[in-house]
Formats: sequence, structure tokens, C-alpha cells
Amino acid sequence: MVNKQQEQGEQEQERHHYIDRSIAILGAGNMGSALMKGIINARLTPTDKITASGVHLDKLQRLSAQWNVNHSLNLVEAVEASEIVLLCVKPQTLPKVLSQVQKAVRKDHLLISIAAGVKIAFIQSALGQQVAIVRSMPNIASTVDEGATALSFGEFVSEEQQRIAISIFEAVGEVVVVAEEQLDAVTGLSGSGPAYIYMVIEALIDGGVKMGLSRDIASKLAIQTVLGSAKLVKESGLHPAILRDQVTTPGGTAINAIHELESHGLRSMLINAVATATRRSEELSKVISRS
Ligand SMILES: NC(=O)c1ccc[n+]([C@@H]2O[C@H](COP(=O)([O-])OP(=O)(O)OC[C@H]3O[C@@H](n4cnc5c(N)ncnc54)[C@H](OP(=O)(O)O)[C@@H]3O)[C@@H](O)[C@H]2O)c1
Repeated sequence: MVNKQQEQGEQEQERHHYIDRSIAILGAGNMGSALMKGIINARLTPTDKITASGVHLDKLQRLSAQWNVNHSLNLVEAVEASEIVLLCVKPQTLPKVLSQVQKAVRKDHLLISIAAGVKIAFIQSALGQQVAIVRSMPNIASTVDEGATALSFGEFVSEEQQRIAISIFEAVGEVVVVAEEQLDAVTGLSGSGPAYIYMVIEALIDGGVKMGLSRDIASKLAIQTVLGSAKLVKESGLHPAILRDQVTTPGGTAINAIHELESHGLRSMLINAVATATRRSEELSKVISRS
């Protein structure tokens, strides 16, 4: 008889595209380990084909014991043993890591970078060879499998490699494919967006507390209101303005609050926030790609 766990595993495999490839994660920090967990939970590849790499042995040993993956302090060894390399170190560390692994990178490797602002052309030239490079901009919600990731494909990425990259990020949330030039706008919207929404949640909690609710109760209500509203927009497929109109009774509470928000320019503020963060991302990207 097939046990329940096995059945669930098979369902996960069917839902995602089974890739069955060896994967090295260079920099198994917050994002690297989130991706690793997503890959494992979606059963994209067997755990013994995954190698977590970083600089602190104790951290790697803990990850290895918890998730039954290989670990190595030796980046070159990790790259040599893999078909897919996830570049998950900080942008400022990436040039050093690329020069370390350059000789171990083969033509058939698929490299996937999550480093913010580091262009495909920069990685290509650091490696000094024509190799498949995918650049991504995930966000922190990938750590709870609700990420929003945009992918851009370099010119040597095959269709199959595109599908593999999409499967990896679909294991931790939603994926869109964009031209590389649009990744700054993605950074301004979904990359930095969690910070804006945390401010909204914090302010709603304070609003509840101001009106006499306990902080615990206000937190629970504020968090669930944001989560539930997002879920409803996503699942209904309706424009947010239609949903807003549906909860706005003539002469009621919501329309009065909306007037207050409009008079302080809430929508303009958020549009400007995305635009400002996009411009900052463009600036940072120029600095990083010059280094
Ligand atoms: N956090 C986000 O919201 C977010 C969103 C989008 C993109 N990103 C991108 O994700 C990347 C990682 O960010 P993070 O927040 O996950 O950072 P993090 O938690 O600091 O992870 C970085 C990892 O790199 C490892 N590392 C440092 N130097 C190394 C070296 N020389 N060789 C190999 N590994 C090395 C660190 O190892 P130890 O743990 O052993 O020190 C750590 O595991 C960044 O490029 C960032 O731009 C992050």
C-alpha cells in the first residue's frame, strides 16, 4: 500500500517539473537555504544531489543534518559536482566567488544568480566563457513559499534550462519572466515591496491600538486583513478597485477612511515609492557592475 507521505511526495512532483539534477548552492544563507528547502519540499531533485556551500562549517553542518543534503566549504568542488549552480551570495561577494569557481564552470552548467543588481553580462565576462546564465529577483517571502520572483534569461539558456529555472522558483512562489532591463522595476515593486507592506501592517496595528484594541488582537486582525485581502484579489482575479467598491457602503465607514487616505495621497505615495526604489536599483546596479 502506498503510504500517505509517498502519495503527497508524488503529488508535489506532479505539480512541479521534476528536474532530477545535481545542484550546488553557493551561499546557503537566508535566500539560498529558502530555495534549497523549496527544491526539497517540491521534490524537484533527490536531496543527495544537492550541495550547500558557504563559509561557516557549523552552519553548513546544521543544514546538512536537517535536510539530508551534502555540504562543502570548497566552492570549486561543489561546482564541479553539479549541473546547476545557484549563486546566492551577496552582490559584493559575487565577483570573488566567480573568480574562485571560474575554472570549474563548464559549458553545460546552468548558473542562476539571485544577486541584486549584478547583470548577466557582468557574470558572463567574469567567467570568460559562453555559459547559460539566469538572473533572478526573488523576494523575502520565498522563505515561506509565497515569493514573487522575476527571471531573465541570458542568451545561452536553452528552453529546457528556462523550464528548470522556472520550476526552482515556482517551488517557493509565483514566477514571471521579464527582459533584464525590467529587473530594476521588479526590485522597486516586489523585491522591496515587503518593506512597504510591513509598514502598512505596522500602521494598521497602531490604528487598532489607538482605538483601544490590545496589541495582540490588533496584530492578529491587521495581519489577517492584509493576507486575506491579497488572497481575495489573487483568487477572484478581480481588479482591486472592484473589490474595494464591493466593501464600500454609501455613507459608510470604508468610504470615509478612503477619503482620508486619498487626501494624504496614499496611492501617489506608493507609486512614487516603487519609482524611487527602481531608480535606486538602477544606480546600485551601475556601481556593482563597474566593480
Ligand atoms: N534577502 C532578500 O530579501 C533578497 C531579495 C532578493 C535578492 N536577494 C539576494 O540574495 C542574495 C543573498 O542574500 P541573503 O539575504 O540570503 O544573504 P545572507 O543570508 O547573508 O546569505 C549569504 C550567504 O553567502 C555566504 N557567503 C559569504 N561569503 C561567501 C563566500 N566567499 N563564499 C561562499 N559563500 C559565502 C554566507 O555564508 P555564511 O552563512 O557561512 O556566512 C551566507 O550563507 C544577495 O545577493 C541578495 O541580493 C535577497
